Amino acid sequence: MRIGVLTAGGDCPGLNAVIRSVVHRAVTHYGDEVIGFEDGYAGLLDGRYRPLDLNAVSGILARGGTILGSSRLERDRFAAACDNAKELVEKSGFDALVPIGGEGTLTAARMLSDAGVPVVGVPKTIDNDISSTDRTFGFDTAVGVATEAMDRLKTTAESHQRVMVVEVMGRHAGWIALESGMAGGAHGICLPERPFDPADLVKMVEERFARGKKFAVICVAEGAHPADGTMDYGKGEIDQFGHERFQGIGTALAYELERRLGKEARPVILGHVQRGGTPTAYDRVLATRFGWHAVEAVHRGEFGNMTALRGTDVKMVPLAEAVTRLKTVPADRFREAESVF
Ligand code: F6P
Repeated sequence: MRIGVLTAGGDCPGLNAVIRSVVHRAVTHYGDEVIGFEDGYAGLLDGRYRPLDLNAVSGILARGGTILGSSRLERDRFAAACDNAKELVEKSGFDALVPIGGEGTLTAARMLSDAGVPVVGVPKTIDNDISSTDRTFGFDTAVGVATEAMDRLKTTAESHQRVMVVEVMGRHAGWIALESGMAGGAHGICLPERPFDPADLVKMVEERFARGKKFAVICVAEGAHPADGTMDYGKGEIDQFGHERFQGIGTALAYELERRLGKEARPVILGHVQRGGTPTAYDRVLATRFGWHAVEAVHRGEFGNMTALRGTDVKMVPLAEAVTRLKTVPADRFREAESVF
């Protein structure tokens, strides 16, 4: 068999572990040929690929990013190619395609599958917001990075009696904020799923200072937002130079708290540092398992599916099911975190 692999969308620690696992299982066990499309779906559309043998994937397990490169989807070009799926498959001559990616990539995978291309998807995202899998690899790494950042920020916050507002990734789902906030002992967590009131955060900081704890760390997801009418933060407003006044919720909230509290506050935007670098052991293992199961599914002819973690087992679930809705943080998960603020 000839199996094509690609990585698309935002990168994520563990992508290389999947590629390595696919190659090992396919080449060693089945005697397959594996090709890697470069730069995501762009490489598929352009017919840009390279052979992946055991040597090509040697030494990449612990490496962040993706050896194949990635790109965001060019929607119109992709839709046109789906109309001519047969030609697309013939051009590269693959028998099965394994796209590794997040919501956008899996939606595109479903389009290809609907157009008759034999596809087995592998989900990835540091955001952990794909509904039909309990976990995605990359999430554990991102949570670890953010947790370490909060551990470090606490010591400097305490030395200077400051409030630190740490902004983590998560535009639509607050899983990273929730879990890193809990692990890092944040004193407040703001999620996209739950509009916050800055007055509650002010109260929390004042109470801490009153009982002698003269610093605070607040973990805020980039997609978090204040409840209507609780904070004027310039979202959507363009200043006289044509720049949006809004500089991200972490920055806006830090300065709002500083103003209301009369105490120093600092924003810390972790950004892409959460996505870079070496994956944790957990993410390497999950990624390796997903790669193995993807190859097995290809050989069983279970196309139109993706790998998913259900409990401790890896199962195949329909791509159609995977991309219908985002997995957001339920209210009771927030309540658990809130009790230790
Ligand atoms: O993978 C998803 C994500 O990490 C989001 O949490 C974040 O908003 C986005 O990627 C940032 O992506 P980009 O690389 O386009 O800046």
